[in-house]
Amino acid sequence: MSAALLKLGAVLSTMVLISNWMSQNLPALVGLDQHTAAPGTSEKIISVLYPGQDEGWQVYGSAQGRCVCSIKTPVPDACAGDPRHTRLQQISAHVLNVSEHMQLLTRRTAGDLQELRSSETILDTLEKTLTSAQQNPQELSDRSLQELRWSVSQCRPLRVLLTRVRADVAQLDSVRDELQGISVSLSLLQERFTLQHYQQLQQRISILQQHLHSCSSHLGCGQLISISAPLTVRSSGSRFGSWMMETSIESSDNRVWVMDGYLKGRRVLEYPSLQDFASGQNYIVHHLPHAWAGTGHVVFNGSLYYSKHQSSVLVRYGLASGSVLQQRELPDAGFNNTFPYSWGGASDIDLMVDGSGLWAVHSSAGRGGTLLLSRLHPLSLQVLRSWDTGFPKRSAGEAFLICGTLYITDSHLPGAKVAFRFHTHTHTYQYTDIAFHNQYSHISMLDYNPRTRALYTWNNGQQVLYQLTLMHYIHTHTPLTHTHTNDTHA
Ligand SMILES: *[C@@H]1O[C@H](CO)[C@@H](O)[C@H](O)[C@H]1NC(C)=O
Ligand SMILES: *[C@@H]1O[C@H](CO)[C@@H](O)[C@H](O)[C@H]1NC(C)=O
Ligand SMILES: *[C@@H]1O[C@H](CO)[C@@H](O)[C@H](O)[C@H]1NC(C)=O
Ligand SMILES: *[C@@H]1O[C@H](CO)[C@@H](O)[C@H](O)[C@H]1NC(C)=O
Repeated sequence: MSAALLKLGAVLSTMVLISNWMSQNLPALVGLDQHTAAPGTSEKIISVLYPGQDEGWQVYGSAQGRCVCSIKTPVPDACAGDPRHTRLQQISAHVLNVSEHMQLLTRRTAGDLQELRSSETILDTLEKTLTSAQQNPQELSDRSLQELRWSVSQCRPLRVLLTRVRADVAQLDSVRDELQGISVSLSLLQERFTLQHYQQLQQRISILQQHLHSCSSHLGCGQLISISAPLTVRSSGSRFGSWMMETSIESSDNRVWVMDGYLKGRRVLEYPSLQDFASGQNYIVHHLPHAWAGTGHVVFNGSLYYSKHQSSVLVRYGLASGSVLQQRELPDAGFNNTFPYSWGGASDIDLMVDGSGLWAVHSSAGRGGTLLLSRLHPLSLQVLRSWDTGFPKRSAGEAFLICGTLYITDSHLPGAKVAFRFHTHTHTYQYTDIAFHNQYSHISMLDYNPRTRALYTWNNGQQVLYQLTLMHYIHTHTPLTHTHTNDTHA
């Protein structure tokens, strides 16, 4: 028992070290070495497994030997029969779950903070320019002065934002301290362990989890401002297809699902982890009772959602039960290449998930082919509400959803960018110009996963990930352009 606990302590302190290593991002987190797939190469990524020497502890790491990924609990040892030991093990597992979650959060926050810091520099420069301009007014025209003021006022919400993100970071730090405290308590308690101790620990852990949840909800949503370089996870399958991971935020299911092709396919491959998928090993095959259409499938809370071949019927398939749990027609939705995305491929209906639930992108003749977004009940598949984005569906390359905002790309070909966004909360749209590198020149699937916070794409037979930078959107009470500028020229 004590050996297991000592090991736990070691792993926790490693995690703290890693949490401080700010430059790490998603691929490394899931055990992939990003350096072997620099942008512009199609090199495959190979993950390395470092099995522990004793007690079956296993730590997955990247190729540089940094242990960053997941830890498997040890096999039961000699004192496994002792109920206290079982409880202790449960607590250890809890702490590990929480610390994995925390790591993820720390890294996300760090990314956001870095983005904000550079914005703050811009703000500082602007303000200095403005001050010097005010001191030497004769050197500036009224017009340029007004332009400067406007720029400054545009940047001002960043200050509020920065403060908030800093608070989030502080909160994470306190969660991390708490976690270390629990680790120390565990070490101290290993000799004289009572039910009371156990209850105290349980309480501390549930508080810790509450903190983490509140942190998550702060950090999960934001407005897309940039897309990272692509990371090629694997090259497999045909030119068109789709691959995905569980999207339910509460889940820690790391299986990868692959559905190759867009026409009449029925074979779904299941890989136990992203590492297995990257190296193409350990998969099992499921056969769906109905063929699918397009590439707009999604896995949510243990079910695979897809649209049926040559129909507008949506299917909910239970991955555990291996059976169809629900089928329902999406009313008036075009299918069979009536309103596909720009690349065709029967991509008329695209299912997706954000932090709040299940959605479908589709179109109908009655609406003149504009891209519609409908919120679906995840069990009954009934439409709860629909929005008309006004964007022509056949001109859209792809669409993905982040916290109720739908982002639409203008092409599936090189030069594609995120050109449009539609906010369901306010029923408004904006044109955007967010570039990304379409490395293999033909995107047939693009989906955001709110749990892993990455964009998944199928690009010409390559399975690719992108990371996103999300900006938190702050509503101020007063209109910015007027409050802070007492304009003497007015
Ligand atoms: C840790 O997460 C895994 C995966 O969701 C879950 O099966 C397990 O019950 C969790 N352990 C604890 C103690 O919460
Ligand atoms: C996920 O499924 C479980 C039962 O399988 C259910 O209790 C839970 O509410 C579901 N979660 C969501 C977010 O739908
Ligand atoms: C779907 O399209 C194919 C090819 O255009 C056609 O042969 C088939 O009859 C269509 N099916 C339905 C149900 O419209
Ligand atoms: C500008 O406005 C601020 C706050 O509204 C006020 O405190 C300040 O005196 C004003 N400055 C001038 C030059 O009017």
